[in-house]
Amino acid sequence: MTDLHAVPARVRAGSPNPITDLDRYREHAARAAANPDGFWLEETRRRVAWRTEPTQGLASSFHDIAQGPLSWFGDGRLNITESCLDRHLATQGDKVAILWEGDEPGDCRTLTYRELHAEVCRTASALQRLGLKRGERAIIYMGMVPEAAIAMLACARLGAIHSVVFGGFSAEALRDRIRDCSAEVVITQDEGRRAGRTIPLKATTDLACTGETGVKKVLVYRRTGAPVEWTEGRDVWWHDVVPQGDAALPATECAAEDPLFILYTSGSTGRPKGVVHTCGGYITWAQYTHRTVFDLRDDDVYACVADVGWITGHTYIVYGPLANGATTLMFESTPLYPDSGRYWDLVQRHGITIFYTAPTAIRALAACGDEHVSRYDRSTLRVLGTVGEPINPEAWNWYYDVVGEGRCNIVDTWWQTETGGICLTPIAPATPTKPGSATLPMPGILPSLRTPEGRVIRGPGEGLLCIEQPWPGQARTVWGDHERFVATYFGMFPGLYFTGDGCKRDADGYYWITGRVDDVLNVSGHRMGTAEFESALVSSEAIAEAAVVGFPHPIKGQGVYAYVVLQSGQALTDDLEQTMQGVCRTRIGAHARVDRLQVVPGLPKTRSGKVMRRLLRKIAEGRGDELGDVSTLADPTVVDAIRAGAQRG
Ligand code: PRX
Repeated sequence: MTDLHAVPARVRAGSPNPITDLDRYREHAARAAANPDGFWLEETRRRVAWRTEPTQGLASSFHDIAQGPLSWFGDGRLNITESCLDRHLATQGDKVAILWEGDEPGDCRTLTYRELHAEVCRTASALQRLGLKRGERAIIYMGMVPEAAIAMLACARLGAIHSVVFGGFSAEALRDRIRDCSAEVVITQDEGRRAGRTIPLKATTDLACTGETGVKKVLVYRRTGAPVEWTEGRDVWWHDVVPQGDAALPATECAAEDPLFILYTSGSTGRPKGVVHTCGGYITWAQYTHRTVFDLRDDDVYACVADVGWITGHTYIVYGPLANGATTLMFESTPLYPDSGRYWDLVQRHGITIFYTAPTAIRALAACGDEHVSRYDRSTLRVLGTVGEPINPEAWNWYYDVVGEGRCNIVDTWWQTETGGICLTPIAPATPTKPGSATLPMPGILPSLRTPEGRVIRGPGEGLLCIEQPWPGQARTVWGDHERFVATYFGMFPGLYFTGDGCKRDADGYYWITGRVDDVLNVSGHRMGTAEFESALVSSEAIAEAAVVGFPHPIKGQGVYAYVVLQSGQALTDDLEQTMQGVCRTRIGAHARVDRLQVVPGLPKTRSGKVMRRLLRKIAEGRGDELGDVSTLADPTVVDAIRAGAQRG
């Protein structure tokens, strides 16, 4: 093999992980492929606290997906909070479960497993008294406070289904999600805190709930103490009801395939889809991947600096670490507040051993200079993870050399909201790495590269990344729309899960993700649909048509490039530009910004009226002279005008 980074000795030493080298990895992967039922039944019985252990493995298959969702461990019964909390009480009740660091450096709180268990029980009991029942939906719209994790677990304790909405989303986006899942309860806080600023979470919730009669109760956690509007009969303070709750509330028994949560994510249409994860398979995958990939040890201080509003926060801040009895850090602030040394200050003060972040943060920090890193002691670090987008080799090497001082293993973990947990990745003590490659599949994951026509690519090559066989952690359906689930993920290649990503495989069998091949943008690790931007932009009266594509951005990975056709009589002014940013903010959220805006006389369309986005992408990438034949366009002259006016960085 060429260009391989051996696993540093320190990562290999003393690993309790059963997968400590490539031979063991191959042995596990071969067993999982040959006998998935046997392999996963054995793993889940060992890793999850079942009330009734399952005897059934996988029911159904990708070929039968149109008939109904997949089922894993169908006859098992459990409540996943018993895996995350109750079972740790006897052995490690006093171990810190959640280590929280607030926006201001050193503003910390800890919750031991005993305290977290009691708080989850009290909160579940309060929610029960507010009327939340098994199978009903609660929206969680909060910042990064321990109470967000407590709220998730409290819903799970009751068998209710939570849907966390990232605190950056707007009132409109929140309202859409409340409606789509018919939520009975919204859990929020007065304000969020981030980088010295406040985020008006309760006020946004009020706006979102205006006229929504389905929402019976809004439970409000007090974070900053700012005054908030109050709707009598609907709004309830957390501190008025949770302390009286039952601190030993028994968990509600659920079926393995009961939904655990819904998480909305962007796809090719303007309407986000509610991806549904279920209890038994998801918790198995979360526990297994978290322990194996990061090589988790009992005394680790594990920090994933994502937000609970995204899948990474669900699986690798809350469910995976707690199911493993780990100490998991929750971080309220940003990598740049109060300065760009914040992450390494966290590492030094808390003795962090495993650190998990996104390439966009690594690139932003690398640009700030090494002295912000080297002035802190990082000697506790052992494993460094990345997730969310392709990592360029320069950023990978900076993470390895500067942050990890060449002592740590880097796990570049590829996965998606829909996959529930990590699918392609190095396993820390076992897999030699290559900068920029997500390396090899987890046991149980069978990747397949295809041509657009569906032909299998064998050996080295590049194609569309699909997965051939079901695995326990994958999403089961789209909330209320199984047909959409089938069409989105199985419509392209019947019988295969299509990820939406392009991917290369090299001669060593290593995988290199090249990015999305559909209309999904990945901006600073935030997944957004081009169609969401387009529908926001055309909602402005001044805009007749809009087409949005991504372009390579040195820090954010991708930037948002919007081509707009103005209504006649309109001209681009600063005011109009503000309005356009404003509609994206209002319709989507604070994280939705157009980086480059170009007014064009028309969009390049085929004679049947389809916008040729391929051309727009090339122009946005600065490759406007490589467009090839444009004679099939209804009006080829628009291309010259667009090329001439293209925006550069
Ligand atoms: O394009 C891939 C990219 O992020 C997409 C999934 O986004 P989301 O559902 O928001 O989940 C992000 C966190 C799991 C994928 O389709 N992606 C994720 N991880 C990587 C990645 N691209 C390259 N390398 C990765 N490690």
